[in-house]
Amino acid sequence: MCGIVGYVGHRKVVPILLEGLKRLEYRGYDSAGLVYVSGDKLAKHRARGKLINLEEMLDEVRDSASHIGLGHTRWATHGPPTEANAHPHSDCTGRLVVVHNGIIENYHVLREKLKANGHVFTSETDTEVLAHLIEEHLKDDLVTAVRQALKKVEGSYAIGVLWAGQPDTLVAARNQSPLVLGVQEGGSLLASDIPALLPYTNQVVFLEDQELAVLKEGSWQVLRLSNGKPVKKEVQTIDWNASMAEKAGFKHFMLKEIFEQPQAILSTFRGRLDPETGKVELPEIGLGLAELKNIKRISLVACGTSWHAALVAKYWLEKWVGIPVEVDIASEFRYRRLLLDETVMVIPISQSGETADTLAGLRLAKKMGARVISICNVVGSTITRESHGTIYTHAGPEIGVASTKAFTCQLTAFYLLTLYLGQIHGTIKPKERKAMVKALVELPAIMEEELPRLQQESAAIAAAFADSRDFLYLGRGSCFPIALEGALKLKEISYIHAEGYAAGELKHGPIALIDRDMPVLALAPKDGVYEKVVSNVEEVKARNGRIIMVGSKGDRTIQRMAEHFILLPKIHEELNPILYVLPLQFLSYEIASLRGCDVDQPRNLAKSVTVE
Ligand code: F6R
Repeated sequence: MCGIVGYVGHRKVVPILLEGLKRLEYRGYDSAGLVYVSGDKLAKHRARGKLINLEEMLDEVRDSASHIGLGHTRWATHGPPTEANAHPHSDCTGRLVVVHNGIIENYHVLREKLKANGHVFTSETDTEVLAHLIEEHLKDDLVTAVRQALKKVEGSYAIGVLWAGQPDTLVAARNQSPLVLGVQEGGSLLASDIPALLPYTNQVVFLEDQELAVLKEGSWQVLRLSNGKPVKKEVQTIDWNASMAEKAGFKHFMLKEIFEQPQAILSTFRGRLDPETGKVELPEIGLGLAELKNIKRISLVACGTSWHAALVAKYWLEKWVGIPVEVDIASEFRYRRLLLDETVMVIPISQSGETADTLAGLRLAKKMGARVISICNVVGSTITRESHGTIYTHAGPEIGVASTKAFTCQLTAFYLLTLYLGQIHGTIKPKERKAMVKALVELPAIMEEELPRLQQESAAIAAAFADSRDFLYLGRGSCFPIALEGALKLKEISYIHAEGYAAGELKHGPIALIDRDMPVLALAPKDGVYEKVVSNVEEVKARNGRIIMVGSKGDRTIQRMAEHFILLPKIHEELNPILYVLPLQFLSYEIASLRGCDVDQPRNLAKSVTVE
């Protein structure tokens, strides 16, 4: 949700800003812009649409000798995606600029006051008030002016500010929107997210809410916004590298990330289980045995794909641990009456660790005394810093806007949690636990072997259905959330309307939709509800529906019933959701590609949803 990048140091700034923006473009691509110091002025360039449009404008200035500047990639909130609304935004003099991620809630009141004081606005954005507000307070010190201005601001922001009057200094501040510094000898960077920093450094400093950073060529300092006093910050080392956030020869990040899943899953369980004994360790939960046994309920909170992972986890945890589990969409959770206390374990699930609604849910849960253990992919993200403990998914950076490897790694983390709690509560017999651990350990190799075939078979099915307007996905049990996930993947990257349904729910309404123009994809692994799914598919077939089925190798019934099918190897039943989502990821990828859609940057979306 908007990406910010900034650099000051001994290198030329324009290529650094462009590289940073490229790595942050998944956060928004409605417009892009950058600014740098040029002589005693600021040179500002902005273009609507994707970064490529800005890059094309910059051919002649790429080699500018400037070594300080800011960049921005926008996901529009206030004002349409025009050049005038693109960041950076300037004050009346054009000598001060701001880039911003977040929402200034009282911008309307501030704007009217500033206008009354003679300020002239040139955009419809909430951000522009920040530039004029800082201008209003500016005498000879930018830090003081930024601090005074931000006292008047309500809402969320991560900002970068540059003033031609102090051309060696970048000022940044954060409140409820992410901002991280990259520190290295001879220069410092700031960015909304770690991938922008990786080509230059893996030494990072996370800003907290209400902190301000002052960056110069040879120094960086963090101050408290309220009183301007220095804050001691820890420099952390990130174990991601720059190549992990590159396409490595794949056409799209999404495709690369689908193929990375075996390795990502392996990294997520490695070191957390012992295949010999079937023992699982999750020390990051940070709770003693007595405390864990005192947990009476588990509450899972997430958005989008991460919510689907939580829905699968409910089946696993209730079946194997016997603790009641509730699952909430974070934007609902935060506005309903919550019944939480210290006997409830709340688990926010988030790839980015910055999703605004999930974070708000986490904060409410903590306030009510619940134990908060997050499942998250980004080290040092806000959700991890505010949780009592974090089970990290080691998926590596996920750049494609449609989540794939983060999802299967979330499932892996939940599977480990199920085994761990089952071990503590004695609800999974050691022999069964050992079998479940063994099945997980064997899974990456199976996936590795199956992925190329799954892509091929999905591509053939995609060719038959790429022109569809609608799609239904059906599943039961722990594959019901996979049906939801398959439908979400298809709609977000191919713009085909798709719905996921619990197969048993079909006859309560959606069956009325069935005709030759409504393909139905059914998930039918040989599990405890297999026969039920088959009956539901028969009902579709009887109404002349077009059927695609995903089921188990050797299943003749499926081959007879379905117009198209994909068969998967038999694995431990509990792991089916991880395996069965793979053909659905490929199917949506292949359909979107055939339709000429922008797979990695689908319209209207942004990867990290830092506003409500
Ligand atoms: C879909 C997708 C989104 C995210 C959702 C939550 O492919 O990526 O639905 O899952 O925005 O994001 P995180 O997991 O970062 O909290």
